[in-house]
Amino acid sequence: PIVSDAIRTMPKAELHLHIEGTLEAELAYELAERNAIELPFAGLEDLKQRYHFTSLQSFLDLYYQLMSVLRTADDFRDLVLAYMAKANRAGVVRSEIFFDPQVHIANGIDLDTVLDGLLSGMVLARERYGISSGLIPCIVRDMPVESALETIEALAPRADELLGLGLDSAEVGYPPEDFKDVFQRAGDLGLRLVAHAGEEGPASYVRQALDDLHVERVDHGIHSVEDKDLIELLKHRQIPLTCCPLSNLKLQVVSDLGELPLRRLMAGGVPVTINSDDPAYFGGYIDDNFDALSQIGFTLPELASMAENSLNAAFVDDAERRTML
Ligand code: HPA
Ligand code: ZN
Repeated sequence: PIVSDAIRTMPKAELHLHIEGTLEAELAYELAERNAIELPFAGLEDLKQRYHFTSLQSFLDLYYQLMSVLRTADDFRDLVLAYMAKANRAGVVRSEIFFDPQVHIANGIDLDTVLDGLLSGMVLARERYGISSGLIPCIVRDMPVESALETIEALAPRADELLGLGLDSAEVGYPPEDFKDVFQRAGDLGLRLVAHAGEEGPASYVRQALDDLHVERVDHGIHSVEDKDLIELLKHRQIPLTCCPLSNLKLQVVSDLGELPLRRLMAGGVPVTINSDDPAYFGGYIDDNFDALSQIGFTLPELASMAENSLNAAFVDDAERRTML
């Protein structure tokens, strides 16, 4: 338990975390009541029965459905605070938070409401826990490219309050190259660039994310292991992968955590980091992900090096990085 506590609480940055994926079933019901929304389930117990997924899409269906309870700035603030309390206990000193603006806009919520709520939660988390954080809106890749272009323009006036731009949602059939113009514009706005690639999709999508979108980190990226030259490129450019073991297990990307290519990627010189993705849905927060790897034989030095990779991969300046160590 002493080693386990050390692993759980060592300082780390969380670099792959969808704030909507931290919405626990209990909070979803609380917010539904507060906003007089009728959820299409028989109750909390019925909802909790539905957390069995067979693919990314089967998860996304429930995830997008539950997001409809988020209506006010207070809802978004409370969601951030509930996550940050857990992140603090897990040793998180820095969190770079994804959200899906297009889905909230489609639900009739103003972008300013979303941003004001999330940012106020982040300010409070800095005061309460000393956790530094940044916001990365993600383009929902299975919505039309025109919607993505509209979204980046809607975000543009508040670009200086954002850290970066990401790309998420259903992967296969929605290649990164389709979003070249969107990412070009985001780069021109001074945003840091990341994209989900190689989760369910092939290594070629990871290559496109690098070559066409010019991303600085790849979210998931585990299928990079299928392409030796790509591993060499990731090593050469020191592109971090934000891996999410419990997510891959729950979405049946692998049938066993031991199948994950984390050690092969690390041996190839690729900076691997460990993250929780959508912890309310996947059975654990970032400390549970570290603990799960420990239980299948990852050593304290291996886990410490992945935590150190996360601090190095965070989008902060050197002065701030020193305060995180
Ligand atoms: N992959 C793609 N889209 C997502 C994910 C994910 O793991 N989580 C939330 N949106
Ligand atoms: Zn993700």
